[in-house]
Amino acid sequence: MILVTGGAGFIGANFVLDWLAQCEEGVVNLDVLSYAGNMENLATLAEDERHIFIRGDIGNSALVSELLQRYQPRAVVHFAAESHVDRSIHGPETFIQTNIVGTFRLLEAIRFYWYGLDGKPKQDFRFLHVSTDEVYGSLAKGEAAFTETHQYQPNSPYSASKAASDHLARAYHHTYGLPVLTTNCSNNYGSYQFPEKLIPLMIVNALAGKPLPVYGDGQQIRDWLYVKDHCSAIARVLEAGVPGEIYNIGGWNEKPNLEIVNSICGLLDALRPQIFGSYRSLITFVADRPGHDRRYAIDASKIEGELGWKPVETFETGIRKTVQWYLDNSSWVENVQSGAYLAWVATHYQGRVDEDSVVR
Ligand code: NAD
Ligand code: TYD
Repeated sequence: MILVTGGAGFIGANFVLDWLAQCEEGVVNLDVLSYAGNMENLATLAEDERHIFIRGDIGNSALVSELLQRYQPRAVVHFAAESHVDRSIHGPETFIQTNIVGTFRLLEAIRFYWYGLDGKPKQDFRFLHVSTDEVYGSLAKGEAAFTETHQYQPNSPYSASKAASDHLARAYHHTYGLPVLTTNCSNNYGSYQFPEKLIPLMIVNALAGKPLPVYGDGQQIRDWLYVKDHCSAIARVLEAGVPGEIYNIGGWNEKPNLEIVNSICGLLDALRPQIFGSYRSLITFVADRPGHDRRYAIDASKIEGELGWKPVETFETGIRKTVQWYLDNSSWVENVQSGAYLAWVATHYQGRVDEDSVVR
């Protein structure tokens, strides 16, 4: 079996669901169930004996060591992290604890487990570290997309903490020989994404008739990847990636934020028309994020050329599926909008609306 960390979060849950839909191999899922972890994402696996859920912290060395000994996984896929840039600006401490200290402790426990293996299980073992394109910093207009050798220039507490964890993963391969694979992925979107990130926030706010808060001029560019394409890329890297190598994963979908929000509004206008007119009238420009990275873009040539992986969805097909999923799963949305979620929205957006903000 494999051990997955953070498998109750957005990408981790999609990965576990797709994995168990596509193969028989079991999954031990270690997740602390922070605000971002949600057992409802895994509800369809409630009766599935191949899925073993353990609520716990990756930084709990005794627990992780015990799980490794008990289940003897052939691989660990490490998703668990604090993942939201805005939260890292408000409170970086948990990012340092989970993303850096937690990853370090996980690596230590895995190193000792791996040392204890022999022969083929030792040779075939893999630790796959899931990271982000944000570690490379911000690109200027016209600058070439990030390749795997791009210099690390993280700009937010989130990306700095992920960069630190990438360096630890690299060092454990270089120093101890641990068979580490690292993936650096662009912005994901799709089902089960917590509505604090751009795309689900815009869908959920629009459906509630609330303002759609676009930071700054809305011309910041992200490179969007449908979450199921990310999951298939990770499975492919696990299967065929070379230990010590880094693989950038992206969807070749660079788009300014305002275009994304307009696309969502256009889809909602067609799928769930409103008497007040277009959802675009809800777009509200708000104060920019401090240190906001202007552009990310992934060059995914390496994973495509060496491992034969390609995304299946275009942005148009992926965003349509995503909007439809949120329309079909309103009870999931209601359930994640807990007291803690509402408190976050109140703190983060209050006082942020620019006096001169344009409402279209
Ligand atoms: P998420 O915030 O939705 O989920 C994170 C999960 O990790 C949650 O289930 C949470 O409970 C769990 N977790 C947090 N701290 C933990 C701890 N100490 N011990 C055990 N579990 C813990 O995040 P996501 O969007 O699913 O991202 C998953 C990974 O992918 C992260 O490493 C992130 O940096 C990376 N990534 C995300 C994106 C994106 O667009 N979402 C893009 C590139 C890379
Ligand atoms: P986000 O989904 O938080 O991902 P990341 O910061 O990791 O790229 O944000 C995506 C982009 O959308 C980013 O440029 C910030 C912008 N954004 C807004 O304009 N308004 C919002 O309310 C949010 C959450 C994000």
